[in-house]
Amino acid sequence: MRVAILGASGRTGGVLVEQALERGHEVVALVRTPARVAVPVPGRTEIRKADVTVPRGFPDLADVDVVVSAIGIGKGDGPGALVAGAKALAAAGVRTVWLGALGSGVSSRSGGLIYAGVMRLFVGAELAEKAEADRIALDAGATVFHAPDVTDGPLSPTRRTVPLAELRRPLLPPRISRATLASLLLDEAETGRAGSGILVPLG
Ligand SMILES: NC(=O)c1ccc[n+]([C@@H]2O[C@H](COP(=O)([O-])OP(=O)(O)OC[C@H]3O[C@@H](n4cnc5c(N)ncnc54)[C@H](OP(=O)(O)O)[C@@H]3O)[C@@H](O)[C@H]2O)c1
Repeated sequence: MRVAILGASGRTGGVLVEQALERGHEVVALVRTPARVAVPVPGRTEIRKADVTVPRGFPDLADVDVVVSAIGIGKGDGPGALVAGAKALAAAGVRTVWLGALGSGVSSRSGGLIYAGVMRLFVGAELAEKAEADRIALDAGATVFHAPDVTDGPLSPTRRTVPLAELRRPLLPPRISRATLASLLLDEAETGRAGSGILVPLG
């Protein structure tokens, strides 16, 4: 498949690029600063400049099968990248798997009380934007992941996704390794399905 990764220069985006190439896909890395991304496999990695806050310059994605978004609000940036990113992908009309956060919007209480408190404390200022970006992505037919706290660590052998409505609220704050999260995002991208609602990656 031809898989575009939005936010390919980020921590999760970088792992997505690596894993997509390992799976044999062609990768289109969508980044606002092309110099920040190496071309890991020449011939199978293409870098396209894409700053979501400049919609007129957003690249055409008619040649990709699916986009996985791992865009985030950069340190030192003001708000807006998440909503702008969701709008850019909605306008591009391409099948999308969108990464959001457990503990935001409709899942604000789903990670448990301690997790909700931690989210309010550390992510509070971004919560409203995350919820709005999710709504735009869902309305455009995307599948949205609500990932818990992301850590370093190996691929979990028990990795799975559950629909948000079926998540049992945990007592302790849930976590997932970046490798596991990236793998589940790509699994979803490979299904060819669109619009699976909100899924929670676990592992
Ligand atoms: N970290 C966690 O524990 C956690 C948990 C749950 C969900 N999430 C969600 O996962 C997503 C990614 O997290 P992360 O930790 O991988 O983020 P990250 O390392 O900060 O990467 C963010 C990416 O977004 C890109 N970006 C920012 N503004 C942009 C713009 N205007 N146009 C195009 N690209 C832009 C950045 O590009 P530059 O390199 O140019 O800055 C970078 O590639 C976030 O939405 C976050 O909320 C994270």
